[in-house]
Formats: sequence, structure tokens, C-alpha cells
Amino acid sequence: MSDIFEIIATDLGRLKNYPDRVCAILFRDGKLDAIARYVNRLTGGAIDRIITSECFENRKSGDIITIPFPPGMAAQAVDLVILERNEKTKTLRKSGAGVAEKFGSQNTLIAMGTLKDAAEFMLGCALRVYTFKKHSTKALSGVPTKITFMHRRAEVLRSHLPSITALVSGVHFTRDLVNEPANVLSTSEFADRLKKLQSIGIDVNVIEEDQMTTLGMGALLCVGQGSNSPAKMVIMHWKGGREEELPLALVGKGVVFDTGGISLKTATGMSEMIIDMGGAGVVAGTMKALALRKSKANVVGLLGLVENMPSGSAVRPGDIVTSMKGDTIEVLNTDAEGRLVLSDLLWYAQERFNPSAVIDLATLTGAIIVALGTENAGLFSNDDAFAAAIANAAKDEAEGVWRMPLSDEYDKLIQSNSADIANMGNAGRNASSIVAAQFLQRFIKKGTRWAHLDIAGVTYSKKGGEYSPPGATGWGVLTLNRLVSDMMENG
Ligand code: BES
Ligand code: MN
Ligand code: ZN
Repeated sequence: MSDIFEIIATDLGRLKNYPDRVCAILFRDGKLDAIARYVNRLTGGAIDRIITSECFENRKSGDIITIPFPPGMAAQAVDLVILERNEKTKTLRKSGAGVAEKFGSQNTLIAMGTLKDAAEFMLGCALRVYTFKKHSTKALSGVPTKITFMHRRAEVLRSHLPSITALVSGVHFTRDLVNEPANVLSTSEFADRLKKLQSIGIDVNVIEEDQMTTLGMGALLCVGQGSNSPAKMVIMHWKGGREEELPLALVGKGVVFDTGGISLKTATGMSEMIIDMGGAGVVAGTMKALALRKSKANVVGLLGLVENMPSGSAVRPGDIVTSMKGDTIEVLNTDAEGRLVLSDLLWYAQERFNPSAVIDLATLTGAIIVALGTENAGLFSNDDAFAAAIANAAKDEAEGVWRMPLSDEYDKLIQSNSADIANMGNAGRNASSIVAAQFLQRFIKKGTRWAHLDIAGVTYSKKGGEYSPPGATGWGVLTLNRLVSDMMENG
């Protein structure tokens, strides 16, 4: 990623002769900065005509006005991005992404002049410069080979490049994992890709089925038992903080494909279930970002990789399994498999690492999409201050979360007649996202700060996200990274 980014000082000659695509900022107050004045002069007053035209009045921040084949310039097009002089962070990012969406695979020069917080614009742009075209034999790469940022204080902007690169590499890593189909991203391939992150300083340990059997992880293991791909638990440990500092644990659901198992899903839309490892994908991307920016925090990621398939060896509805905690679980519906995977991961995380807090992420329920759509992830927590910290981090990163309730009344819905707990609520579809969260909470010890993010609606976007083309969004990496820096790196 950093290889396609170049940052240079303002150079009007370069601007005039740049052969591909040029982007410049047009402030809403209509006062032209040096760059806009120069483009205006080269184009024989095109910008003057734009800002005095009637339609300019109604233009919003982030809107783009394109001048194709501008006279006096070598460029094929000039994109003018409209911004306020003191623009909000979120709008700067979105505008950067909006510009990047226009590039296609064209190389681009972005002349920012003296734009304030230009790094935010650059981040938005970098997040959007992404395609997943590796399996297409015909298409172009879809991204430029070079993007040049021009800023009066190039050295200041350049100082932001390492952290931007770290974040964007994390987000893009998550998207690559989520977009990958299940025939390629088997549990083994997933684990292999994580292993490679050892080269950037993350300890990566792959726990195989026989070890998980010894640990007593009957809940996680039953989900994978119908598949030819072996279940794996991957532990990623980043030790950037003081040795005595307890780690934050990030736990991710990594169902590489969810057919529903014997409680088989219907055919419609089943192919979408390649994203059911989204929680594990976010954990992996966050760990990568933290390591690349050498975060001064201790964070451990635990990923449960399984495939939920129907077969002669698959777990059946009605089966009773024993979790690592020791609680028995009646598997009423094999399609409620994510909570089974997470229950053993959560228990193991607490037993093994005594974490300062635990956050799990999972594409857990279809019901959270009914409730919150694709705009917000569902946030559940046993600690108000912790929930607020997560919500604030998400707000700062313009990633939506919305708090959902937990309570004893909902907990009653997972009673089982024959085991300690059932994996499905006895009130049918009522409150099924909350029921799933209550199930998880049964595996949280008293005193453990815990939050659960149901990301089924935000992991993937059919029409494309604010910073992503159609497909995986990478939602959550920025929020978790921000949370770690807010909570663990101050002092
Ligand atoms: N992976 C699904 C949830 C999901 C649905 C994710 C749509 C992304 C998009 C999960 O394993 C599941 O099947 N949940 C069931 C639970 C039910 C059987 C209690 C659901 O939500 O229908
Ligand atoms: Mn399922
Ligand atoms: Zn699932």
C-alpha cells in the first residue's frame, strides 16, 4: 500500500504536466487557494465559472465536480472536491474515499495545497483504494499504481504515512480474508495466513483438534465435526506493553462457511455465508494494524476457525455437548453455531490469559440485521463504562455501533429441559440477537469486563461501504485500534 503512495511538496509544473487524473480542493467560501488559482488560470477561468454558477450554491461538502480534458493541462480530468475550510474529520475521510472511488485504475495527483488535516483525507482515500480481483482473469487490477499527494507541508503529511499504512493494511487484510471464498479460505489456509504475521512480531499459535479435545472444547469442536476441514483455534499475541500489564482479549468467530449444518439454511443467499468468519477477520486485521504501528499495548487475539457442514459425522439437533467450562449444551439448532464456537474461546481466553477485558466479534445473528440494518453493529456489554468507551471509539472512527440490552429475563429464554443450557431461545425468533448474547454471557466469569459485537450487518456491503467497494467492509479494525490507543496507550 505505502508503495503506491507518494507525498511531495507543492509543484505547479508537475500539476500542469501530470498526464493522468488530477484532484484539487475547492473551498465552499469560493476563495481560491494557490492551487485552485493556478488551475483556474490554466483552464481559462473554468473554476471562476463554476463558483459563480447557480448550482454551486447547492453543493455539499464532499461533492465532486469533474472538468474533463481541462484545456491548458496535460491531465485527462480534474476532480474538484468541495470542502469547508475547517472540515470535520469524518467528512475529510469520506471525501478522500469519494475521490478514490473516481480513480478506477487511473494514476492520480491529489493537490491539497494547504488543506488542514490532510492526513484524514489521505486515510479515507487509502481505505477506498482496494479491490478484490485476484480471481478474475480478465479484469484490470482496479487500483492505480501510483497516487501522488501534493501538500505545502509535505514533511508533516509524510510523518502520518506509517500509521495510516498500518491501519489501512489491517483493514485491507480483514477485507481480503472476508472476501475470500470458502474453497480457498479453508481453516488451514486461514491459519497459514495468520502464521505469516509472525514476521511482523506477532506470536501466532495454532491449536489443533487433538489439543482442543484435551482442553475439553466440546462446544467448538462439535461445530466443525461434519466438515473435512479440521477445526483450529489460533492465538495471536502482541506484546507491546509492559510485561505485567494484563492483555485485552479479542475473540473472533471464524466460521469459514456456514451451511447451517443439519439445520440446513435455504439456498437463497447461502453463498453470502463465506463472510461468517468476519469476526475472526476483524481480530486478525486489528492485530496486524497494532503490530505494524508497534502499539504499546498487550493484546491477545483468539480465533475459532471451523466449517459448519452437514454430513454423516455432523452434530445433530438434539445432541448434547460439554463445553470447556463444564456446562452441558443442548444443540437445538445446528445453525446457531457461532455461540458454540465462542463459548469455548471465551472460557479459554479467561482461564489462560486473565485478560483486563474481553471483546468478542461475530456475524452472530440475522436478527441484528433486522434490528439495525447495515448502519450499526449491535453492542452488548456487562459494563457501562466499557460499553461507552467502545461506543466513543466507534464514533470517533465513524463506524456505527448501537447498544443493545441484556437482562435476567432474556437469560431465562435459553433454559434447556435436558442440559444446562440450550443454544437457541424458546421464544422462537423473539429477541434472538439478545438471546445469543445471553448465551455468550453464560461463559463470562464474574468480574470479567466483557463486550460482544454482533457484526452480521456491517461486515459486508452489497452496494459498497463509505470506504469500501462492494464486498467486505473491514468494519471494526479502526474502532478496535482506536479503543486500544485510547484505553491502553495513554501513559
Ligand atoms: N451466521 C449466521 C448469522 C448471519 C446471518 C450472519 C446473515 C450474516 C448474515 C448465524 O450462524 C446463524 O445462522 N444464526 C441464526 C441463529 C438462529 C438459528 C437461532 C439466525 O440468525 O437465523
Ligand atoms: Mn449459523
Ligand atoms: Zn454462522
